[in-house]
Parts: sequence; structure tokens; C-alpha cells
Amino acid sequence: MNIESLAKPSVLTQPVYEPGKPIEYVARELGLDPAGIIKLASNENPFGPSPLAVEAATRALAQGALYPDGGCYELRQRLAAFHGLGADQFVVGNGSNELIELLGHVFLGPGDEVVMANPAFVVYKLVTRLFGAKPVEVPLRNWTHDLPAMAAAVTPRTKLVCVCSPNNPTGTANSAAELIQFVRSLPEHVVVVIDEAYVEYLENPPDLKPLIREGRNLICLRTFSKIYGLASLRVGYGYAGPSLCTLLNRVRQPFNVNAIGLAAALAALSDAKFAQGCAEETRAGMAFIEAQLGLLRLESVPSRANFVLVKVGSGEACFRGLQKAGVIVRPVASYGLPGWIRVTIGSRTDNGRFLAALKQWLGQASDLG
Ligand SMILES: Cc1ncc(COP(=O)(O)O)c(C=O)c1O
Repeated sequence: MNIESLAKPSVLTQPVYEPGKPIEYVARELGLDPAGIIKLASNENPFGPSPLAVEAATRALAQGALYPDGGCYELRQRLAAFHGLGADQFVVGNGSNELIELLGHVFLGPGDEVVMANPAFVVYKLVTRLFGAKPVEVPLRNWTHDLPAMAAAVTPRTKLVCVCSPNNPTGTANSAAELIQFVRSLPEHVVVVIDEAYVEYLENPPDLKPLIREGRNLICLRTFSKIYGLASLRVGYGYAGPSLCTLLNRVRQPFNVNAIGLAAALAALSDAKFAQGCAEETRAGMAFIEAQLGLLRLESVPSRANFVLVKVGSGEACFRGLQKAGVIVRPVASYGLPGWIRVTIGSRTDNGRFLAALKQWLGQASDLG
């Protein structure tokens, strides 16, 4: 008997998530020196974590024999002070990805529907399918979530509505007023998930806490993987009403977040100056790259996150060409955009290298006719 015949049907149709390629992998594949490769494929922070976070993580490693604080008590206390909410209004996950999966555990089963934008962060769709539920995808309008159309897509079967703002892969964001009106307009049987993975890059991030305080079925997801530069340590969190947090805690594994990540996250949160500096440097890098793309007459989507979509003709060919020059970007055919790449804004040097590699590839591509 083959093993597949024993698996749940929802697993058999599930694609494996395609992550951006690690530097070492690309170096081996192409015979390049890993030190000369830059990765602008997964929207990580090119400035790394705050030195305070590195110090705290190193200290925590010495206590590696002990299980971590399973309730993430200290981090929840600190997040409560940071956001002005109660510590019981936070749930911490192994990256915000895990929280999306926990939402599936709590709310989704066969026959349920999840409303999401297309394209938006692919994990909403993967988790929906994993639990046998149906993704209801609503096309973007002007590259941005079409919130009225998403509200219209809600049916009695809708369990979750996912909004990614700023959105991955487009970098576009909805205004606070739009988001607030949208959440208030939805029926009570729906839980809204607002994914704020890139919210710290916005100059004026929306404050959605009033919606939580007024008891709406809403959870906002945040991560330490982006502006806080801790992607490898896997810490994300959600803030919501206490009852929603309790439901998510019921389906969480006992020690889902490791102690090194917890220590680093605490320290990162206390270094607001570092995060602020990263946001400013990224905005300057974005302005520079957008201007340069304009000079190259390449279309890009005006982005408010730490990455930008660029129309290059063939995303896959561009990805391969740039990879040979040691620059890893993300082709986005899997998001339905085969003609585009998604590029993370890097340090000044990274951005210069990306543009030089892109120009060289464009030259070669035009030579080939
Ligand atoms: C929109 C969005 N949400 C969530 C995540 C997951 O982040 P993590 O699991 O590292 O916290 C990502 C990662 O790329 C993302 O782009």
C-alpha cells in the first residue's frame, strides 16, 4: 500500500511552500563565493538584528539546556506595555506563520471559507487548504486590497477574512480609516486577521487597537522577522481580545517559541532607535531604487514596505540572470505575476549591486533581441 493513500486528501493537494533560496545553496549551485552573494528575496532586514538582541540571544544560549518560558510571560508583559493592551491580549508564535496555522486549527474545517486578496501572502491560502476549507480570492484593485469587494465576498460560510497591509507581494497598504470601516462593516460570525508584518515600515502606521477594545472579532499579526531582523529565530505575535487569545493558546504546542528568540525579541523591542533607523534607511533605499527603476523605464508598484515589485519581462529569466551576478531576488510567478520580480530593499551597497546586476541583465536581454 502506498503511503499517499493513507494521507488526508487535503495534504495530497497541498503544494510545498517555496522559500527564497539560502545563500549557501546558491553558492554551491553556481560555484560562487557565499561572501559575495546578497539575498534580496525574503524581505529580511539587511541591517541585521539590533546589537542588543544579539547580546541577549548569546546570553540565552548559555541556558540552552532549559525549556523556554512556555507562556512567553515576560514578552507578553513587555508587548502589553508597548501596545497599551493587557498581557492576556497577546499570543506568541513560532513566527507569525504559526499563528496563521493556529487560526486554522481553531476556526477552519471542510466547507468553511476564507476570504483573502489575490495576490496576497500565500500562507493564508496554504493554511486554508490544509484544513480542507476553501480560499475565496478577491482580486486587488490598483494593486491594493479591494476591501468593499472583500466585504461583498463574505457569506454565511466565511470564517476568516485575511487582510495583509502592507501587502506581500505588492507593498501597498490600506489606510487606517479604510481598515476600521471594513472591520466594523463585517458580520459577527467572521474573524478578521490583519497581517501587519511590515507595518513598522509605514510612516504613520494605523492604530487598530480601538477595534479590539470595542470587542470586534479581530486579530492583528506582527513579527520580529522583518524590521527587528530576527527572521531565523522565529518569533511572531498576535494581539486580540483575551477570549480569542485563549482559543489560540489551546491549540499551541507547549514550548512553541524558543528561549533564544524570546530573549532576542525582548531586547529588540527595547531598541526603538535601531528599528527607527532601519525604517528610515529602508525608505531612503526605496526612494533611490524607485527613481533608478524610473530612469531604466521599468514599471514598479509604489511600495510602502521593505520590498518592491518590478516588471522585468520574465521574472524567472531575470532571477536567473541576477543570481549569476550573486544577487538573489524573488520571481513571483507563483503569485500570478510571471513578468515580475520582488526585490527586498537592502543596504546602500546591496541596492547598488542589485541595480548594477539588473542593468547588466537588461543589456544582455536586449542584445539577445
Ligand atoms: C505578510 C507576511 N506575513 C507573515 C510572514 C511570516 O513571517 P514570520 O513567520 O517570519 O513571522 C511573512 C513573511 O514573509 C509575510 O510576508
